[in-house]
Amino acid sequence: MHSFGYRANALATFAITILVIMCAMASFSDTFNTPSPTASVKVLNINWFQKQLHGNDEVSMTLNISADLQSLFTWNTKQVFVFVAAEYETPKNSLNQISLWDGIIPSKENAKFSIHTSNKYRFIDQGSNLKGKEFNLTLHWHVMPKTGKMFTNKIVMTGYRLPEDYR
Ligand SMILES: *[C@@H]1O[C@H](CO)[C@@H](O)[C@H](O)[C@H]1NC(C)=O
Ligand SMILES: *[C@@H]1O[C@H](CO)[C@@H](O)[C@H](O)[C@H]1NC(C)=O
Repeated sequence: MHSFGYRANALATFAITILVIMCAMASFSDTFNTPSPTASVKVLNINWFQKQLHGNDEVSMTLNISADLQSLFTWNTKQVFVFVAAEYETPKNSLNQISLWDGIIPSKENAKFSIHTSNKYRFIDQGSNLKGKEFNLTLHWHVMPKTGKMFTNKIVMTGYRLPEDYR
């Protein structure tokens, strides 16, 4: 006859097995969700654009960030981290990426938004390369699941250009 301890142990093992299977199914079902997020970022204004004392260019801009990231949310989504970055090339680096704004989206209800904001983080070049500089704005997201692997992706918006002169 099995002891009580043995049966409790067997029950716990069974429960853990079920849990593991459910977690695997949860992250597996996520791979069948093909999200179709949309985003648009507009530069509403260049507030100022100048060269700092020690020679680095800095620009301040007002952005209109609109996005619909609702399709990223499934029942397995804990939260989504999102950030907007300016990306441009310089002779020294083929990719300069500067984060301008970020946020955490806690739920699907908050995943469709339009924000009118000046850049939350400073847009400073490692030099004076920004005059008339073409740049892209990218909206990146990191989906943090309740169980399974995190996944990331982005939308690239092209064709922005900084002014030719400081102002
Ligand atoms: C921001 O962009 C959204 C979507 O294009 C638009 O509906 C909204 O009116 C814009 N807001 C401003 C302040 O331009
Ligand atoms: C902007 O993005 C496009 C498409 O991904 C890329 O070909 C181009 O090199 C990028 N431009 C800059 C300035 O990074």
